[in-house]
Amino acid sequence: MKIMVVGGGGREHAIIKKLKENKDITEIFALPGNGGIAADATCVAIGAKDTEKIVEFAKAEQIDYAVVAPDDPLVLGTVDRLNEIGIDCFGPNAAAAIIEGSKVFSKNLMKKYGIPTAEYEVFENAEDAIKYLATAPIPTVVKADGLALGKGVIIAETRQQAIDAVRSIMEDRMFGESGSRIVIEEFLTGPEVSVLSFTDGKTVVPMVSSMDHKRAGDGDTGLNTGGMGTIAPNPYYTEDIADYCMEKIFLPTVRAMEAENRTFKGCLYFGLMLTPNGPKVIEYNCRFGDPETQVVLPLLESDLLTIMKATTFGTLKEDMVKFSKKSAACVVMASSGYPQKYESGFELTIPEAIADKVYVAGAKLENGKLLTAGGRVLGATAIGNDLKEAIKNAYALVPEIRFENAYYRKDIGKRALMALEEK
Ligand code: AMP
Ligand code: GLY
Repeated sequence: MKIMVVGGGGREHAIIKKLKENKDITEIFALPGNGGIAADATCVAIGAKDTEKIVEFAKAEQIDYAVVAPDDPLVLGTVDRLNEIGIDCFGPNAAAAIIEGSKVFSKNLMKKYGIPTAEYEVFENAEDAIKYLATAPIPTVVKADGLALGKGVIIAETRQQAIDAVRSIMEDRMFGESGSRIVIEEFLTGPEVSVLSFTDGKTVVPMVSSMDHKRAGDGDTGLNTGGMGTIAPNPYYTEDIADYCMEKIFLPTVRAMEAENRTFKGCLYFGLMLTPNGPKVIEYNCRFGDPETQVVLPLLESDLLTIMKATTFGTLKEDMVKFSKKSAACVVMASSGYPQKYESGFELTIPEAIADKVYVAGAKLENGKLLTAGGRVLGATAIGNDLKEAIKNAYALVPEIRFENAYYRKDIGKRALMALEEK
């Protein structure tokens, strides 16, 4: 069986490593993949947003099943195009991917179907938004409608910051066309939980919960990044909360999408905040989270391809998805300076003995050598009998991995451990 995975980051590396456990798979192509992924798949120099070339390649190679992992190609309709030429895919079509592609869509969906989320207003021009901000509660949150590389959210602590955010998004178009509409929403507080789920459009099966660490610096300080590390399971996410979320959030969302003729198949990611008034949806993603996937998939005991195909064909059952009771931690190693200016092109060494625990995000192969080629370079993931052990094991991998300029947070999982101690 020939599989094609669209994407080229740590998430895709984790998906590919998990898929490889299935012995029916004879070849995996990664489009474009990266220098590290090349150890586990055949990398093809086609960008994840180059829909035409992706479709051509899939046809020429007679791909049996495609996994479209990143948000951009999903929102662009890559799955629709592949389906048109008879290739089955893991991932939603464009009509369903809009749940991540447009915050205005997802907020209106939640309002219509009574799914708990922050109060909000939608604006189509800066003037109206600024008028509204004159009396809006502060702090407030300003969000660009469309995809913005995970950066389209500005938390404004003052009225002036909120006005500046509106101007940069709507007038200066700092996120391009994504900023033609904005959402201004209520500022919520509480621990954040990521819950990735498999769904075939009717049945929804949550994966083990996780916690991202978005800020660049220790103690959750510094700039927002794509994620500096993750742990799973998330200790704030108790069984009672999970039951509540299934009844009030997960099932209602999947049913709402079906009712809107936008049946969602694939991985639906719920970004939740556990507020004093109960769990609320902060965001939906139409795909696996990065770097959540790097802790969630290593704990999956079932065959990933079987589950993926069941989401495609509408045959998903809860007992197909089994997770280990252990814990996992992932420490992201980045190029110093990330998420701003950083240097790359440094030689990267990952000892063979730990290569199965390393998910490469930013590296290229040059003359047989692996060189750093991105802000986030890799994630080192370890499993442990409990969270403390998983974190210790993950940090034990870090000194084994070498490249000049490496930077990583020293406190991944610290907040989660504190939460466990308070229990
Ligand atoms: P998003 O891109 O929607 O995940 O937002 C990025 C981050 O901004 C989230 O992980 C939260 O930490 C924060 N955030 C988003 N919306 C809100 C909100 N309504 N209240 C407080 N924080 C928020
Ligand atoms: N880790 C957050 C995301 O994948 O959007």
